[in-house]
Amino acid sequence: MSGPDPHQVDAGQGGQTLWHGRFEGGPAAELMAYTESLSFDKRLWPDDIEGSRAHVRGLARVGIISEIERDQVLIALDVVANEMESGLFVYLASDEDIHTAVERRVTELAGPAGAKLHTGRSRNDQSATDVRLWCKRELMVIARRVLELQRVLLRRAEDHEGVYLPGYTHLQRAQPVLLAHHLMAHGWALGREIDRILDALERIDVSPLGAGALAGSSLPLDPDGNAADLGFARRFENSLDAVGSRDHVAEALFVLTLIAIDLSRIGEEVVLWTTDEFGFAKLDDAYATGSSMLPQKKNPDIAELARGKAGRVIGDLTGFLATMKGLPLSYNRDYQEDKEPLFDAADQVRLALGAVTGMLATITFVPERMQSAADAESTAATDLAEWLVQRGTPFRDAHAIVGALVRTALQGERSLRALVEEHPELGPDAAALVAPGVSVRRRVTPGGAGPVPVADQMVRFRAELERLAEALDA
Ligand code: ARG
Repeated sequence: MSGPDPHQVDAGQGGQTLWHGRFEGGPAAELMAYTESLSFDKRLWPDDIEGSRAHVRGLARVGIISEIERDQVLIALDVVANEMESGLFVYLASDEDIHTAVERRVTELAGPAGAKLHTGRSRNDQSATDVRLWCKRELMVIARRVLELQRVLLRRAEDHEGVYLPGYTHLQRAQPVLLAHHLMAHGWALGREIDRILDALERIDVSPLGAGALAGSSLPLDPDGNAADLGFARRFENSLDAVGSRDHVAEALFVLTLIAIDLSRIGEEVVLWTTDEFGFAKLDDAYATGSSMLPQKKNPDIAELARGKAGRVIGDLTGFLATMKGLPLSYNRDYQEDKEPLFDAADQVRLALGAVTGMLATITFVPERMQSAADAESTAATDLAEWLVQRGTPFRDAHAIVGALVRTALQGERSLRALVEEHPELGPDAAALVAPGVSVRRRVTPGGAGPVPVADQMVRFRAELERLAEALDA
């Protein structure tokens, strides 16, 4: 072919790939456009620089490069970090990914010393290292935001002592529960996500640096020293596994997905509770939206997007699981696909946590509406059956007696309370159970929904938040 191929990256202005030596011409523009990851792995630059610093210090430690060369590279890495931080870094068309961009620029700045940076290293262990560093930092940010949401739930529970609402099963009114109990139910679930993050971090906190492309190196590298330098708990045990596994990314995605689902479920309740039909809560103006056409509307868009975006985060997880399936050892370029779902899930969950936390911190609950719904006579039906049980009636018989009374009451002529009062086995004492606010106080068992166990639960929940806060600070 004569003259420059317009489909190839211009080596003059665009620079060279890291692997140009073995190839006669430059890569096709379509190849670069399709295989590049720079557009999304740019954000790994702080981790790539950290990893490169540790690697170059390791090379000097074992004598592969001199201390002068090490310092030249470290200074160049500082310059690159400044350029990246300030947005002045100039990317070239040949910068396939963040690793290429950093190394290319270090070599421009530090000359022959820079050209030694990649000694004993592959982008396979490098990108695996970057993503693990990124996960460690970002998952901690997310865990702290989860804790913040738990604190808001506790505060709102404390603000509404004694307020009760119907507890639901099948979204049908079942038995009254304290609002505090309902809010803390979400709080406990969120606490388990923090524990899951901390547990996943045990497996994320492993340095792959020193695994090379797949098999380690003939050079006397120091993976243990690199791991310690980077603040990892330990190094990889097996180089093929180090570059050829992403189960830790799947785990991170799984816990992010569970958080997205928790927020989605809270969102669904806020959507229901803020309808005129429920009327259990009113959104603060700052956390609600209007309609472009319907002047009266106040819409729960945060709650809806918490619900809607959970679908996308589930897609991030399931999509990546499908990517992992069937990959032979060790590194395959497929693994480049770990980043977009991971970043997307983390971004979405981080944003959702901020928005939902603000929404719940400012929402106004409407106790009168909650309590009048919970005071519907039939929500005391189980209390009536249990009243009979305490007087010797087998539960199954008691269930049938009360069920028949509820059925009669539903015909509309007599209230359940009147029917109970007249019933030979029940009478006025039992009828008192149907009075407003009585039933919830009878939920007395440990972990139950009434004031006595909920007071105890709040003490335990406060202690749980302290435990989680300490675990996050450890
Ligand atoms: N951008 C790549 C990734 O994220 C870097 C690894 C490329 N390695 C390779 N052998 N082509 O996975």
